[in-house]
Amino acid sequence: MIFKLKYDTPKEWAIEAIKDIDSFLQDHADAERKVANMCLSLIAKYPNKHEIIDELIQISVEELMHFRQVHELIRYRGDVLNGVFQKDPYIKGLLSIVRSDSELLFMDRLIIASVAELRGSERFKLIGEVIDDTKISKFYLNLHKQELEHIDSFIKMAKIYFDGEVVNKRVDEILEQEAKVTESLPWRSAIH
Ligand SMILES: [Fe+2]
Ligand SMILES: [Fe+2]
Repeated sequence: MIFKLKYDTPKEWAIEAIKDIDSFLQDHADAERKVANMCLSLIAKYPNKHEIIDELIQISVEELMHFRQVHELIRYRGDVLNGVFQKDPYIKGLLSIVRSDSELLFMDRLIIASVAELRGSERFKLIGEVIDDTKISKFYLNLHKQELEHIDSFIKMAKIYFDGEVVNKRVDEILEQEAKVTESLPWRSAIH
Protein backbone atom coordinates (compact mmCIF):
# COMPACT_ATOMS: atom_id res chain seq x y z
CA MET A 1 0.00 0.00 0.00
CA ILE A 2 1.35 3.37 -0.94
CA PHE A 3 -0.62 5.68 1.35
CA LYS A 4 -2.73 5.71 4.50
CA LEU A 5 -6.03 7.29 5.47
CA LYS A 6 -5.80 10.44 7.57
CA TYR A 7 -8.77 9.52 9.73
CA ASP A 8 -9.32 6.06 11.22
CA THR A 9 -12.89 4.83 11.56
CA PRO A 10 -13.51 3.83 15.18
CA LYS A 11 -14.49 0.24 15.87
CA GLU A 12 -17.72 1.56 17.46
CA TRP A 13 -18.81 2.62 13.99
CA ALA A 14 -18.88 -1.05 12.91
CA ILE A 15 -20.69 -2.13 16.08
CA GLU A 16 -23.42 0.40 15.23
CA ALA A 17 -23.42 -0.39 11.49
CA ILE A 18 -24.02 -4.15 11.93
CA LYS A 19 -27.14 -3.51 14.00
CA ASP A 20 -28.81 -3.02 10.63
CA ILE A 21 -26.69 -5.32 8.50
CA ASP A 22 -29.48 -5.61 5.92
CA SER A 23 -29.28 -1.87 5.16
CA PHE A 24 -25.51 -2.12 5.08
CA LEU A 25 -25.69 -4.92 2.50
CA GLN A 26 -28.08 -2.91 0.31
CA ASP A 27 -25.76 0.09 0.40
CA HIS A 28 -22.78 -2.12 -0.32
CA ALA A 29 -24.53 -3.70 -3.32
CA ASP A 30 -25.10 -0.16 -4.61
CA ALA A 31 -21.47 0.77 -4.07
CA GLU A 32 -20.14 -2.23 -6.02
CA ARG A 33 -22.38 -1.40 -8.97
CA LYS A 34 -21.30 2.22 -8.85
CA VAL A 35 -17.59 1.37 -9.00
CA ALA A 36 -18.18 -1.03 -11.90
CA ASN A 37 -20.08 1.74 -13.71
CA MET A 38 -17.44 4.31 -12.87
CA CYS A 39 -14.70 2.21 -14.50
CA LEU A 40 -16.73 1.90 -17.69
CA SER A 41 -17.56 5.59 -17.66
CA LEU A 42 -13.85 6.43 -17.40
CA ILE A 43 -13.30 4.47 -20.62
CA ALA A 44 -16.18 6.34 -22.24
CA LYS A 45 -14.92 9.75 -21.06
CA TYR A 46 -11.25 9.15 -21.90
CA PRO A 47 -11.22 6.71 -24.84
CA ASN A 48 -7.77 7.93 -25.90
CA LYS A 49 -6.16 6.61 -22.68
CA HIS A 50 -5.51 3.23 -24.30
CA GLU A 51 -2.98 2.04 -21.73
CA ILE A 52 -5.56 1.70 -18.96
CA ILE A 53 -8.57 0.28 -20.79
CA ASP A 54 -7.75 -3.37 -19.98
CA GLU A 55 -7.17 -2.57 -16.31
CA LEU A 56 -10.42 -0.63 -16.05
CA ILE A 57 -12.34 -3.49 -17.65
CA GLN A 58 -10.67 -5.91 -15.23
CA ILE A 59 -11.64 -3.86 -12.16
CA SER A 60 -15.16 -3.37 -13.49
CA VAL A 61 -15.54 -7.16 -13.87
CA GLU A 62 -14.19 -7.74 -10.36
CA GLU A 63 -16.60 -5.18 -8.89
CA LEU A 64 -19.48 -6.87 -10.70
CA MET A 65 -18.43 -10.16 -9.11
CA HIS A 66 -18.46 -8.42 -5.72
CA PHE A 67 -21.93 -7.13 -6.52
CA ARG A 68 -22.99 -10.69 -7.26
CA GLN A 69 -21.55 -11.90 -3.94
CA VAL A 70 -23.28 -9.12 -1.98
CA HIS A 71 -26.52 -9.95 -3.78
CA GLU A 72 -26.06 -13.57 -2.66
CA LEU A 73 -25.67 -12.38 0.94
CA ILE A 74 -28.81 -10.25 0.64
CA ARG A 75 -30.72 -13.37 -0.44
CA TYR A 76 -29.03 -15.48 2.24
CA ARG A 77 -30.49 -13.00 4.75
CA GLY A 78 -33.94 -13.60 3.23
CA ASP A 79 -34.07 -10.17 1.66
CA VAL A 80 -34.26 -8.89 -1.93
CA LEU A 81 -32.26 -6.20 -3.67
CA ASN A 82 -34.06 -2.90 -3.21
CA GLY A 83 -32.69 -1.51 -6.45
CA VAL A 84 -32.66 2.10 -5.30
CA PHE A 85 -29.46 3.98 -5.99
CA GLN A 86 -28.89 6.08 -2.86
CA LYS A 87 -27.25 9.50 -3.06
CA ASP A 88 -23.83 9.23 -1.49
CA PRO A 89 -22.88 12.32 0.59
CA TYR A 90 -19.35 10.98 0.88
CA ILE A 91 -18.68 10.98 -2.86
CA LYS A 92 -20.36 14.38 -3.15
CA GLY A 93 -17.96 15.71 -0.51
CA LEU A 94 -14.96 14.32 -2.35
CA LEU A 95 -16.08 15.60 -5.74
CA SER A 96 -16.37 19.11 -4.33
CA ILE A 97 -12.60 19.58 -4.70
CA VAL A 98 -12.05 18.20 -8.20
CA ARG A 99 -10.49 20.51 -10.76
CA SER A 100 -12.35 21.42 -13.94
CA ASP A 101 -9.49 21.07 -16.46
CA SER A 102 -10.16 17.80 -18.31
CA GLU A 103 -6.71 16.26 -17.68
CA LEU A 104 -6.56 17.32 -14.03
CA LEU A 105 -10.10 16.07 -13.56
CA PHE A 106 -8.94 12.73 -14.98
CA MET A 107 -6.17 12.60 -12.37
CA ASP A 108 -8.58 13.58 -9.58
CA ARG A 109 -11.10 10.94 -10.63
CA LEU A 110 -8.49 8.17 -10.47
CA ILE A 111 -7.21 9.35 -7.08
CA ILE A 112 -10.71 9.66 -5.63
CA ALA A 113 -11.48 6.14 -6.87
CA SER A 114 -8.37 4.90 -5.09
CA VAL A 115 -9.03 6.74 -1.82
CA ALA A 116 -12.69 5.63 -1.76
CA GLU A 117 -11.55 2.02 -2.23
CA LEU A 118 -9.18 2.40 0.70
CA ARG A 119 -11.99 3.68 2.95
CA GLY A 120 -14.26 0.85 1.80
CA SER A 121 -11.54 -1.68 2.50
CA GLU A 122 -10.94 -0.24 5.98
CA ARG A 123 -14.61 -0.51 6.82
CA PHE A 124 -15.06 -4.02 5.36
CA LYS A 125 -12.34 -5.18 7.74
CA LEU A 126 -14.08 -3.59 10.73
CA ILE A 127 -17.41 -5.16 9.76
CA GLY A 128 -15.74 -8.56 9.30
CA GLU A 129 -14.16 -8.27 12.74
CA VAL A 130 -17.30 -7.42 14.68
CA ILE A 131 -20.09 -9.39 13.01
CA ASP A 132 -21.06 -12.74 14.55
CA ASP A 133 -22.31 -14.41 11.37
CA THR A 134 -19.30 -16.42 10.11
CA LYS A 135 -20.39 -16.40 6.47
CA ILE A 136 -20.70 -12.60 6.39
CA SER A 137 -17.55 -12.15 8.47
CA LYS A 138 -15.46 -14.33 6.14
CA PHE A 139 -16.79 -12.48 3.11
CA TYR A 140 -15.83 -9.05 4.48
CA LEU A 141 -12.38 -10.04 5.74
CA ASN A 142 -11.62 -11.53 2.34
CA LEU A 143 -13.09 -8.59 0.41
CA HIS A 144 -11.02 -6.17 2.50
CA LYS A 145 -7.87 -7.74 1.01
CA GLN A 146 -9.19 -7.85 -2.55
CA GLU A 147 -10.11 -4.17 -2.53
CA LEU A 148 -6.61 -3.24 -1.39
CA GLU A 149 -5.31 -4.29 -4.81
CA HIS A 150 -7.57 -1.79 -6.55
CA ILE A 151 -6.14 1.06 -4.49
CA ASP A 152 -2.71 0.59 -6.05
CA SER A 153 -4.16 0.00 -9.52
CA PHE A 154 -5.84 3.42 -9.73
CA ILE A 155 -2.69 5.21 -8.57
CA LYS A 156 -0.55 3.29 -11.04
CA MET A 157 -2.94 4.35 -13.80
CA ALA A 158 -2.58 8.00 -12.78
CA LYS A 159 1.21 7.68 -12.82
CA ILE A 160 1.20 6.50 -16.44
CA TYR A 161 0.03 9.98 -17.43
CA PHE A 162 1.34 12.29 -14.71
CA ASP A 163 4.55 12.82 -12.82
CA GLY A 164 4.76 10.55 -9.75
CA GLU A 165 5.50 13.39 -7.32
CA VAL A 166 2.62 15.47 -8.66
CA VAL A 167 0.26 12.51 -8.19
CA ASN A 168 1.55 11.86 -4.64
CA LYS A 169 1.01 15.49 -3.71
CA ARG A 170 -2.55 15.41 -5.02
CA VAL A 171 -3.21 12.11 -3.20
CA ASP A 172 -2.22 13.88 0.00
CA GLU A 173 -4.62 16.78 -0.67
CA ILE A 174 -7.48 14.44 -1.49
CA LEU A 175 -6.76 12.36 1.63
CA GLU A 176 -7.06 15.55 3.71
CA GLN A 177 -10.45 16.28 2.19
CA GLU A 178 -11.53 12.64 2.54
CA ALA A 179 -10.69 12.65 6.25
CA LYS A 180 -12.69 15.86 6.79
CA VAL A 181 -15.71 14.53 4.89
CA THR A 182 -15.65 11.11 6.60
CA GLU A 183 -15.31 12.52 10.09
CA SER A 184 -18.14 15.01 9.54
CA LEU A 185 -20.72 12.53 8.23
CA PRO A 186 -23.23 10.98 10.64
CA TRP A 187 -22.83 7.23 11.14
CA ARG A 188 -25.12 5.08 9.02
CA SER A 189 -25.46 1.39 8.28
CA ALA A 190 -23.63 2.10 5.05
CA ILE A 191 -20.05 2.06 3.80
CA HIS A 192 -19.75 5.83 4.14
FE1 LIG B 1 -15.54 -4.18 -4.81
FE1 LIG C 1 -12.69 -2.32 -5.58
